[in-house]
Amino acid sequence: MLLVEAVMGMALLAGAVLARRRHYRVHARCQSAVVLLNLVVIGFRMAPSFYSQLAPKIPQSLGKSYYAIAAGHAALGVVAELAGLYVILAAGTNVLPKRLLLRNYRAWMRATLILWWVVLLLGVATYVRWYVHLYVVRPSILQ
Ligand code: HEM
Repeated sequence: MLLVEAVMGMALLAGAVLARRRHYRVHARCQSAVVLLNLVVIGFRMAPSFYSQLAPKIPQSLGKSYYAIAAGHAALGVVAELAGLYVILAAGTNVLPKRLLLRNYRAWMRATLILWWVVLLLGVATYVRWYVHLYVVRPSILQ
């Protein structure tokens, strides 16, 4: 999943370049595909993991980096995914009433992209803290 998320993060950057080059239609398809695919990854992998491993430890274990990094990742991840879905609805469909449409698409898209990358890096940090740390730094725990 780390690899899938990394590829999706790069795809969003590539999609942003497409927009700069005024290929708006391909840009819209690319970014929408990533946001929707990510919803599947969250639903099947991250949310179950959140409820089984993280939720029971909140808030009492938030002082430990093991849980704090993952919890920060999950909280900002919800915001990033919702922001992505909102941009899709506002920019790509006609389902929202006029007063809910965006006035500054560009700023919203940029902010969402930056937040997304913060979440991605926190996801990498979660992975390192949960798995790499365990196998490389403290393998004795596993014996
Ligand atoms: C923009 C949205 C998101 C991105 C880019 C993202 C990215 C990542 C990445 C790269 C990892 C490490 C790979 C792995 O462990 O397989 C990860 C793990 C994780 N994420 Fe996310 N994530 C997002 C949203 C969320 C949300 C909304 C939640 C909470 C419901 C969440 C909860 C978790 C959890 C609990 C893990 C650890 C999974 C495990 O190893 O069992 N993430 N995420």
